[in-house]
Formats: sequence, structure tokens, C-alpha cells
Amino acid sequence: MIVSKANAFKPFMLKSKTISFQMVNVLLVVVFFSHITWAVKGSSHCKQTDPGEIRPHSVTITEFGAVGDGVTLNTKAFQNAIFYLNSFADKGGAKLFVPAGRWLTGSFDLISHLTLWLDKDAVILGSKNPDDWPVVDPLPSYGRGRELPGGRHRSLIYGCNLTDVIITGDNGTINGQGSVWWNWFRSKTLNYTRPHLVELMNSTGVVISNLNFLNSPFWTIHPVYCSRVTVQNVTILAPLDSPNTDGIDPDSSDDVCIEDCYISTGDDLIAIKSGWDEYGISFARPSTNIFIRRLTGHNRNGSGIAIGSEMSGGVSEVHAENLYFFDSSTAIIIKTAPGRGGYVRNIYISDVTLAGVDTAIRFNSNFSEHPDEFYDPNALPVIERITVKDVKGDNIKVAGLLNGIERDSFRHLCLLNITLNVTSESPWNCSYIQGYSALVSPETCEPLKESIYPKHYSDCYHLSDPLHNSALRHLS
Ligand SMILES: *[C@@H]1O[C@H](CO)[C@@H](O)[C@H](O)[C@H]1NC(C)=O
Ligand SMILES: *[C@@H]1O[C@H](CO)[C@@H](O)[C@H](O)[C@H]1NC(C)=O
Ligand SMILES: *[C@@H]1O[C@H](CO)[C@@H](O)[C@H](O)[C@H]1NC(C)=O
Ligand SMILES: *[C@@H]1O[C@H](CO)[C@@H](O)[C@H](O)[C@H]1NC(C)=O
Ligand SMILES: *[C@@H]1O[C@H](CO)[C@@H](O)[C@H](O)[C@H]1NC(C)=O
Ligand SMILES: *[C@@H]1O[C@H](CO)[C@@H](O)[C@H](O)[C@H]1NC(C)=O
Ligand SMILES: *[C@@H]1O[C@H](CO)[C@@H](O)[C@H](O)[C@H]1NC(C)=O
Ligand SMILES: *[C@@H]1O[C@H](CO)[C@@H](O)[C@H](O)[C@H]1NC(C)=O
Ligand SMILES: *[C@@H]1O[C@H](CO)[C@@H](O)[C@H](O)[C@H]1NC(C)=O
Ligand SMILES: *[C@@H]1O[C@H](CO)[C@@H](O)[C@H](O)[C@H]1NC(C)=O
Repeated sequence: MIVSKANAFKPFMLKSKTISFQMVNVLLVVVFFSHITWAVKGSSHCKQTDPGEIRPHSVTITEFGAVGDGVTLNTKAFQNAIFYLNSFADKGGAKLFVPAGRWLTGSFDLISHLTLWLDKDAVILGSKNPDDWPVVDPLPSYGRGRELPGGRHRSLIYGCNLTDVIITGDNGTINGQGSVWWNWFRSKTLNYTRPHLVELMNSTGVVISNLNFLNSPFWTIHPVYCSRVTVQNVTILAPLDSPNTDGIDPDSSDDVCIEDCYISTGDDLIAIKSGWDEYGISFARPSTNIFIRRLTGHNRNGSGIAIGSEMSGGVSEVHAENLYFFDSSTAIIIKTAPGRGGYVRNIYISDVTLAGVDTAIRFNSNFSEHPDEFYDPNALPVIERITVKDVKGDNIKVAGLLNGIERDSFRHLCLLNITLNVTSESPWNCSYIQGYSALVSPETCEPLKESIYPKHYSDCYHLSDPLHNSALRHLS
């Protein structure tokens, strides 16, 4: 059996010019690989959710005077329907049904124990009038609006302090009509930070599934200070040149599960965050237990999976697998800067396929946007125990741009079984990082050359039981 596994390496060894593994090394690798494989097999899934779950009460938006002509503003109808359904919150909850039609609306507020259900051919359209998106307080972990000082426009679909809220349907669409906002951004005529398409704040038990999300003014789905969030089977689209239209941004949230999504936007497809500089440090709410699988997508000015750049409350226990990114700028990135503080640790990314990607893996430590001048330039982020394994890529420009921060610790980066067809003359560019590697082609940079096996295996993060268990706990 060991022999046949060793044979499996042959194609890899023949392809690479610089391979110099001795048989002993290969055997060691095989032994440890089996170990890792076992650990990953033990990994779990998002708990299966049932968005078709019957709520005992249901109303249709037309019962509240809504008109689905794409012209009539239906904000009042949504607000009245949800106000009415509030009386069912303690009776098992209720469903607000949105039938086929084009339902123009401004921002509205969800409640606990609510299912917002968009039928096939139902389209909720965001108003193009900024007055329909009221201005609310900035997030305490950011200290100000992300784009401009002061407040920020409230998301189209918003919820705060909720439990058990579901946004789902039969492939309906929520379209932010964000181009007006992108133009205000480009012409610098915004008065406040742009709104998200969907934001759930301080909420527990959130499910978002089986829908299309289009043209968000800013980040598309933003769970912030939330627990037990599931995003399943959604398509998120925005033009590749639309500014900051991130797909899903879990922010200071835990037990988040994202699976079976297709995302193509103008910025990061998924960006895991936790607050900005001194505000994020003092709010101190990390993002942890984030599970991502079966994500496909592309971008031209962002990344597939990003951590940061706002990571000042810490990010840990992230497990991402089965990722496919094509025609993209960057696949995997950690973004930070002096002043952020916080940490990024225990990150495990595996089974990644890349096609036509400029940079496969990047650490960018020079995100020099700060909320104000009061940040502490000596607050250095701790970046450690980052494992990236089982990556193959074709038509890649650069394998890794891995730049840490002088006098800081970016350590225990582990690269395992990575095969990239790279066009650049210098495929890896590393500074101020430390780590280990095995079975990486093209050959890694000097600071990562030491072999993972046998000595450093325990320095490399791999899926551990706490993450496994918390994913199982999900929504139970
Ligand atoms: C959320 O709960 C907090 C604490 O009870 C309260 O101060 C805040 O106003 C609530 N926010 C909303 C939007 O209900
Ligand atoms: C995914 O969503 C589509 C509608 O958008 C639905 O037809 C399909 O059944 C969903 N798949 C799963 C596994 O729920
Ligand atoms: C869902 O809607 C999108 C956009 O309208 C469409 O492209 C896709 O084929 C639909 N999928 C299903 C399963 O109906
Ligand atoms: C910004 O404020 C000005 C002055 O109140 C107003 O005319 C303009 O419409 C506002 N722009 C946006 C995008 O809200
Ligand atoms: C979040 O909810 C908790 C408990 O309901 C409350 O104490 C806290 O003030 C809320 N925080 C925010 C930012 O709304
Ligand atoms: C890419 O994003 C950066 C930062 O948001 C922006 O400055 C730049 O103009 C964007 N480029 C394109 C081509 O959209
Ligand atoms: C960091 O970014 C600033 C401007 O954004 C640039 O001037 C500086 O050269 C960059 N530093 C490094 C080390 O890349
Ligand atoms: C290396 O990664 C590829 C996917 O890129 C996978 O098919 C292969 O099984 C991995 N090799 C080992 C020995 O695990
Ligand atoms: C790598 O790229 C070269 C040139 O683009 C191509 O000829 C070759 O088939 C590629 N190899 C693999 C294994 O994809
Ligand atoms: C790495 O990148 C830096 C900055 O972009 C550049 O100055 C340096 O020459 C590169 N090093 C190598 C070995 O390519």
C-alpha cells in the first residue's frame, strides 16, 4: 500500500525539475499524509438547514399594499407586514412571502423568528434614492464609517438583536441597483459610507440560502457580531470593476458556515474581518470557527478568500476547502498593517484549484488605511499557524507574495502539496515570514524551505476537534 502511494507521486516528481526527494522522505510524507487525511475526513459540514421549514403563519407582501411594478416604492408595505408579523414571533414565527414581481423598496428591518421568502421570479430592488437608506451609527469596532467619518447608510435588508431569522426562497433575487452608489463613490460625492445589501448585526441563528444577490452598493452580505450563521447555495454577482462589492464578509462573528456558493464581484469574494485598528482592538470580538466549502468564483480586483484587512479583534479557526477560483487577481490573502494589532491564527485551507490567477497566495502587510490618527503604529498583528495544502493551479503568474512586517512574527506558515504552473521568473517573494513546506512546486522561497516532516509537523495547524465540534453544534 505504501508502495502504491509512493508511486502516486511519480507524475509530480517527473514534472518538476528541482525535485530531490529521497525515498525516505517520500515514505515519511506518505505516513504523515495519511494522518492528515484522517484528520480532514473527521471534519464535518454545516448542519443541514431546512429553509422550507414551516412557519405556522404566513402573509404575502401584496396584502400590505405592495405593487410589484418596479416603480412603486414598497418600503412601507415591507415595514407594515413585518410589524404585523411581530405578533407571531412567540407563536413559532411567521413567513413573509414575496411573489413574482419587481418590488422596489428602501431599507427595512427584519424581526426574530421570521422567514423572508422570495419566490421564483421575485426580485427585490433597492431604491436609487439615498434618502431611502437611513443613516445609522457607525459600528463600535470600526469607530466610524468604513469609507467616511461619521455614520453609515443602513443596509437594504437589516436586522439587529435577532434570533432565528431566515432569508430564502426559490431562486428569487435581491438586487441593490448599486451603480448609483458606485458612481457617487467614484465622483467622491458620498456623504456617508455606502450601505450593504444585507446586514445582520448582533444576531444568532441566521440562515441565508437559495437566492441571487446582485449589485450591492458596498459589501453584499455582512453578518457582524453574529453567532451561528449559515449561508448556503447562493449566487452573488456584481461587475468585476464595481468598487468594494465584497461577497460575504463575516465580521466579529463566530460559528459561520458558508457552502455551495458562486460569487463573482468587484472585490473579495469572502473577507473575514473583526474591526479596525484601536476600535477593533478595544471592542475585542474575534471572528472564529468559520467554515467554508465548495466555493467557486472570480474577481479582477480582489481575492477568493481574504482575511482582513480589518482584523484587529482577531481571526482564528478558519477552515476552507474545495475552492475553485478562475480568472482572478488573487486567490488567498491575509491583509494587515502596523496599527491593526489583533491576530490571525489557526487557518487551514485545502483542496484549491486555480486557473488564470495572478497571485495564488499573498500576505499583504501594508494596508495603510487607518480610521484616524489615533491608531498605535506599534500595535503589530500576530500571524501564525497558517496551513495551505493540496493546491493545483494552471496559468498562475506568481505563486506567493508573502511579506510580513519587520520585527513582527508571521510564523508557522505551512505549505503542503502545492503544484502551480507559474509564468513569473520569480514565483515566490518572501520577507519577514517563517515556516515550512513539503511537496511544493515551484520550489519555495528560502524562509519556507525547511521540511514539514518530521520535525515541524506539530507546528502546522490542522483541523482540530474544537472546530469540528462547533461546526456540528451549528444550529442544533
Ligand atoms: C439592540 O440591543 C441593545 C441592548 O439591548 C440596544 O441598546 C439596542 O438599541 C438594540 N438595537 C436595536 C436596533 O434594536
Ligand atoms: C439551490 O437553490 C436553487 C434555487 O436557487 C434550488 O433550486 C436548489 O434546489 C437548491 N439546492 C439545494 C441543495 O438546496
Ligand atoms: C436561478 O436564477 C438565475 C438568475 O435568474 C438563473 O441564471 C439560474 O438558472 C436559476 N437557477 C435555477 C436552479 O433555477
Ligand atoms: C449629499 O448631501 C447633499 C447635500 O445635502 C445632497 O444634495 C446629496 O444628494 C447627498 N448625496 C448623497 C449620495 O446622499
Ligand atoms: C447585542 O445584544 C446584547 C444582548 O441582547 C446586548 O446586551 C448588546 O448591547 C447588543 N449589542 C449591540 C451592539 O447591539
Ligand atoms: C481596485 O481596487 C482599488 C482599491 O479599492 C482601487 O483603488 C482601484 O481603482 C481598483 N481597480 C480597478 C480596476 O477597479
Ligand atoms: C506601503 O504603502 C505605501 C503607500 O500606500 C507605500 O508608499 C510604501 O512604499 C509601501 N511599503 C511597502 C514596504 O511596500
Ligand atoms: C495533492 O493535492 C491534490 C489536489 O491538488 C490531490 O489530488 C492529491 O491527492 C494530493 N496528494 C496527496 C498525496 O495527498
Ligand atoms: C503549464 O503551462 C505551459 C505553458 O503555458 C503549458 O504548455 C503546460 O501544458 C502547462 N502544464 C500543465 C501541467 O498544466
Ligand atoms: C520582491 O518584491 C520586492 C518589492 O516588490 C522587490 O523589490 C524584490 O526585488 C522582489 N524580490 C525578488 C527576489 O523577486
